[in-house]
Amino acid sequence: MVKIDISGAKEFFGPTGPDFSKVSNAHRTLFERSGEGAEYTGWLELPERVKAGELKAILSAAARIRGNSEALVVIGIGGSYLGAKAAIDLLRSPNYNMKKKDTPDVFFAGNGVSPAAISEIIELIGDRDFTVNVISKSGGTLEPALSFRVFKALLEKKYGAAGAKRRIIATTDAQRGILHDTAVSEGWERFIVPNDVGGRFSVLSAVGLLPMAVAGIDIEKVLNCAVRELHDLDLRSSENPAWIYAGVRQHLYGLGRQIEILACFEPSFRFMAEWWKQLFGESEGKNGIGIYPASVEFSADLHSMGQFIQDGPRRLMETVVSFEDDGAELKVPFELRDRDGLNYLAGVQFGEVQRIVTKAVAGAHIKGDVPNIAITASRRDEEGFAELVCFFEMSCALSAYVSGVNPFNQPGVEAYKKNMFKMLQERE
Ligand code: PA5
Repeated sequence: MVKIDISGAKEFFGPTGPDFSKVSNAHRTLFERSGEGAEYTGWLELPERVKAGELKAILSAAARIRGNSEALVVIGIGGSYLGAKAAIDLLRSPNYNMKKKDTPDVFFAGNGVSPAAISEIIELIGDRDFTVNVISKSGGTLEPALSFRVFKALLEKKYGAAGAKRRIIATTDAQRGILHDTAVSEGWERFIVPNDVGGRFSVLSAVGLLPMAVAGIDIEKVLNCAVRELHDLDLRSSENPAWIYAGVRQHLYGLGRQIEILACFEPSFRFMAEWWKQLFGESEGKNGIGIYPASVEFSADLHSMGQFIQDGPRRLMETVVSFEDDGAELKVPFELRDRDGLNYLAGVQFGEVQRIVTKAVAGAHIKGDVPNIAITASRRDEEGFAELVCFFEMSCALSAYVSGVNPFNQPGVEAYKKNMFKMLQERE
């Protein structure tokens, strides 16, 4: 399990601390499936179900793609792309496609309608062999559907209709939806987004696992660790890090901390933060309430957002994610003339510098009236990824139930869709 340190938040608690009886009730509601949205709590057993079900087929599709493709185009938006992107950036590299490797490049399309972005992916694929994994639970989301048209046409041009069929994999609902129906009638290989798992909780299904496996991530290891984590996070006690996180952030919200910034000193964490923003934003921001989830990347953002965090309106709380072991070793070099005066750090590991900078930043922000929650995962590897995913999913569901909202719906997302489809159909 992740470790959580709330010593940097306690001084902001006021006369009473977090109300863990509310978190305890939320935990019961979640596990007894008695709350709103209970029909979308299948993520609690998702890793076990995938291990017993689709895992073999996912591994074999990934092996086939690695064997016959130099690129995989993953088409999806929101929960149908952020988890896989986050995992590949964190565990392989944010520069994954630029690295020398024996696994295919992975491109993410369908998360927008930018003609420049779509055209650039086509240009980058060039004349290389590629496969398309189109992911949409509903099967009717405009952005991925439009990109899919483009890449399907490219496949058909390159491989002919029959060849293209063997290079399209659809990840969608098991029974319904346009994508499901088309995949069945065209005979495309299919993977399932389970009925009882919402998009933003689906990273540990084929939605996230297939692209991750293509990129060389050990998904069996991810799943094994996730099974253990979800079991451990069922701890009904205020020692449970998910209880602490959910309880503290709701307590601070009640004291006027309306914005939570998630920070990390690892650039490879950027899309984990994007995944986290969707998870908490869509789950909690409803009925006129919710903590606004924002993210910053340190040290870079200390020189852009640092001023605001230290000194702007005091509505912030800060959650900082670190890894006990980053797996990377680099020492500060010795300089003969020491012109920058930094020889006192010569020979020190950058990891050690990072640990000290992290502490120094937290200290300054706490002094500047920003409550600080520190979360530490074990390693920046498959286990650390699973720890973070399970911890945040569990905390998110508990936190949303504590605040009295249904964590698993997203009625607000429909508004833009309705407007958009109306205007597109009515356009001149
Ligand atoms: O969490 C959710 O359910 C949403 O954010 C979806 O992931 C997103 O809207 C994409 O939907 P779909 O997979 O149906 O295309």
